[in-house]
Amino acid sequence: MSRFAYVNGRYVPHAQASVHVEDRGYQFADGVYEVIALRNGLPVDLGLHLDRLNRSLAALFIDEPMPRRALVHVLRQVVKKNRVRNGIVYVQVTRGVAPRNHPFPRHVPPALVITARPRVGPRADQVENGIRVLTMADARWARCDIKAIALLPNVLAKQQAAEAGAYEAWLTTPDGSVTEASASNAWIIEADGTLVTHPLGQAILPGVTRAVVLDIARQAGIPVTERPFTVAEAKAAREAFITSTTSLVLPVVQIDDVVIGNGHPGEVARRLRALYIDHMSGKSAGWDAEGHLGS
Ligand code: PDD
Repeated sequence: MSRFAYVNGRYVPHAQASVHVEDRGYQFADGVYEVIALRNGLPVDLGLHLDRLNRSLAALFIDEPMPRRALVHVLRQVVKKNRVRNGIVYVQVTRGVAPRNHPFPRHVPPALVITARPRVGPRADQVENGIRVLTMADARWARCDIKAIALLPNVLAKQQAAEAGAYEAWLTTPDGSVTEASASNAWIIEADGTLVTHPLGQAILPGVTRAVVLDIARQAGIPVTERPFTVAEAKAAREAFITSTTSLVLPVVQIDDVVIGNGHPGEVARRLRALYIDHMSGKSAGWDAEGHLGS
């Protein structure tokens, strides 16, 4: 089936979609992005993603490429033209085109690229059996709360994990705590059943899935604490899991060489996954782009 991309005002065949060589995204990774899940043709938590996109843009002094209503229209067109039912829509905004120079001209028109594709995320057996993660030093910058396209440390971490046969990399600080994973947020469940994840701040991305799962857990009466946890705590945890737009809630059954719990996906992680999937098909899915949780 033919694929289309939206590039700076035009819908073009995917194979011919390209940007200028002096796009600052290409030269400096000077831009931001969002990955939004599509469920039965509808985006999930669109408003929360667009709120975060605007926060990322503001943090980098990049103008919004167009008003939200217009952006939602273009997103909808890209999803429709690509006939994606279940998959993702990808939005990237870069500072735009300018002669290469570190300081940037103010208010050049930002460049906007949108693509969509079906079938992303873990395999069925990874969902069924749980995944292994590898811990390693967090080599990223001091503003991980910005969803910047500058992802080299994340790319290298995930590559190292993949080459070691693991699904994700859990990133650690010098004092041994886990911030998050290379492309997802990290969670453990303590012996007493409390859910633990790193607090918001500049050390982690404020995951949309993280915010929703916190909300779902609270509604389900599961105790939650937002605090840093150590690798040692994680290895002794009753359960562990990751959250992201593409992995949803994905149980972790091994951290480095240590098996978590009984080596099978934990009961709470499985329950949260089921509740999250209900959430995806519920009223959070749709083109109404009001943010709700304010994460
Ligand atoms: N990754 N932390 C990092 C570093 C991430 O890159 C992501 C998302 C998350 C989870 O955020 P959310 O729940 O909003 O998807 C946490 C996306 C999916 C990606 O880069 O492909």
